[in-house]
Amino acid sequence: MVARLNLALVEQRLKTLYVGRNLRYYATTVSTQDAAREEAERGAPDGTAVLAEEQTAGRGRLGRSWVSPAGKNLYLTLVMRPPARRLRVLSIVSPLAIAEALEEAAGLSSRIKWPNDVVVGGRKIAGILIETDLAGDAVKHALVGMGLNVNFDVETQPEIADIATSVQRELGRDASREELLAALLNAFEARYAEALEGDVPFRAWRSRLETLGRRVQATLGDRVEEGIAEDVDAEGNLLIRRDDGSLATVEAGDVTLRA
Ligand code: BTN
Repeated sequence: MVARLNLALVEQRLKTLYVGRNLRYYATTVSTQDAAREEAERGAPDGTAVLAEEQTAGRGRLGRSWVSPAGKNLYLTLVMRPPARRLRVLSIVSPLAIAEALEEAAGLSSRIKWPNDVVVGGRKIAGILIETDLAGDAVKHALVGMGLNVNFDVETQPEIADIATSVQRELGRDASREELLAALLNAFEARYAEALEGDVPFRAWRSRLETLGRRVQATLGDRVEEGIAEDVDAEGNLLIRRDDGSLATVEAGDVTLRA
């Protein structure tokens, strides 16, 4: 029997004005990114959350797949319409909201691997995929996809068993997906609202970055930058001190980072 999310419980715990208030729930779908795009194109309100128990082709960044077994984890996509000048805050707000939700609802502390993987003990617990549809320079909508491993036994997936973790693995017991989901939506709206007012939660995000001070290699298409991850700038770009002393600025996006 596949566990189904108790949506009434999620609603009870929601403190948001609009994020997650319009909630579309699928027992199974190809990818919540695709379902959310359809909703967005039909005019779904800002903050619409598209959620699935299972994805048959969940996807990650850089064309990777996202393992999405049924009834275990959280797979959701938020339809957001920030002004273009605030678009980049989504990659700061999203991992921060996940980290804050893990702390609040599961007592689990996590770090952020630049730009927006959430990790516990060096293993990935959540990933974020942001797909933006533009009309000229304007944002039609940004689809903020978040996958959080909750009650998933990562050992059942040999291809990710060494690099991934879940709340269950970290706590040694199952956690409430409903509590985590509500905490995530609450934290997301709170942080996003601050960011829209110009108070980007940059410091809170930066202080969780586990990447800083480490030797890294960033690959962006054909370009490879290697050196010490020295800092991030106000835009969220990573500043890498090359061995020759010069500084490289690496934009979040299609980048692979190896520590
Ligand atoms: C990554 O780390 O590469 C990003 C993973 C993003 C996974 C989520 S699960 C919900 C949404 N639907 C998808 O197909 N992908 C995102």
